[in-house]
Amino acid sequence: MDYILRTHNLTKSFKNFSAVKNLNMNIKQGEIYGFLGENGAGKTTAIRMIMGLIRPTVGEIELFSQGITKQNRNLFQRIGSMIEYPGFYPNLTAGENLEIHRRMMGIQDKESIINALKITGIQDVKNKKVKEFSLGMKQRLGIARAILHHPEFLILDEPTNGLDPSGIKEIRELILDLCHTQEITFLISSHILSEIQQMATTIGIIHKGELLEEIGYDELQKRNRHYINIKVDDDKKASIILEQKLKINDYVIWEKNNLRVYENLEQASDINKILVSNDLRVDELCVKADSLEDYFLKLTGKQ
Ligand SMILES: Nc1ncnc2c1ncn2[C@@H]1O[C@H](COP(=O)(O)OP(=O)(O)OP(=O)(O)O)[C@@H](O)[C@H]1O
Ligand SMILES: [Mg+2]
Repeated sequence: MDYILRTHNLTKSFKNFSAVKNLNMNIKQGEIYGFLGENGAGKTTAIRMIMGLIRPTVGEIELFSQGITKQNRNLFQRIGSMIEYPGFYPNLTAGENLEIHRRMMGIQDKESIINALKITGIQDVKNKKVKEFSLGMKQRLGIARAILHHPEFLILDEPTNGLDPSGIKEIRELILDLCHTQEITFLISSHILSEIQQMATTIGIIHKGELLEEIGYDELQKRNRHYINIKVDDDKKASIILEQKLKINDYVIWEKNNLRVYENLEQASDINKILVSNDLRVDELCVKADSLEDYFLKLTGKQ
């Protein structure tokens, strides 16, 4: 497995306050990693450490499977980033702003500017002053600037902050497109679950500086599925009846004597009847769904 980024016990303390505690993140190549956490959770602080902008108090960062040392700080050149609101010279045009960045970064390829503007869908406003840009356009320009040097890994800190729903959708589609067509791996922070859920392949949940969970999209979807919750007095016997009499295979024994059936949801009463007629005691049988929102609230101790 190729990891683009791994952090090992990454910690940042300010005086006697720890903003990030023992963070172990694992981002694989080609992923869109959603870094989810409420305001003040420690997202930006973690990202600043990853970018080499602030020094960790404790812990290590591995980029592209290499530890960062004085000798290989050029690893950072393979990363692009947009942290919080991107700053521009408002009286200069989009093109001029990118040109300044191109020279500052020592990027030889002059075509990189028009390419980045094209990829982010704002080539038409190349000659427009940034002060006339909407927030959504500025975010796109921020991303254009971040990809000017063809990074393999793009870190976007709250790229949809302050955008309206259509602006959010546009940025999301741009991110998905960059991931698929340019093969860029993403780390995207947000405090909005639904937003992250729509594009992330893995979600890392940070709360009060700690990574509570790192979970793949498929696993997350499973937790969001509807199911029939069945409590019986004999889970083994119940599973035999489910499989043999009802031909149900998509179920789990969640805990002792507690089964979750993910198929045939509309036949809950038939399932009940058959279990009972086979001498099982059914203490509970109902259709349930764990919403992700509930799940995260539970995880962060708010429910
Ligand atoms: N330089 C600093 N000195 C002291 N405390 C800091 C410093 N930078 C951040 N913090 C604190 O660390 C905590 C985490 O801040 P951080 O900006 O990383 O959170 P965040 O998850 O990015 O939040 P937001 O969603 O609001 O951007 C906050 O309590 C913040 O006040
Ligand atoms: Mg932040």
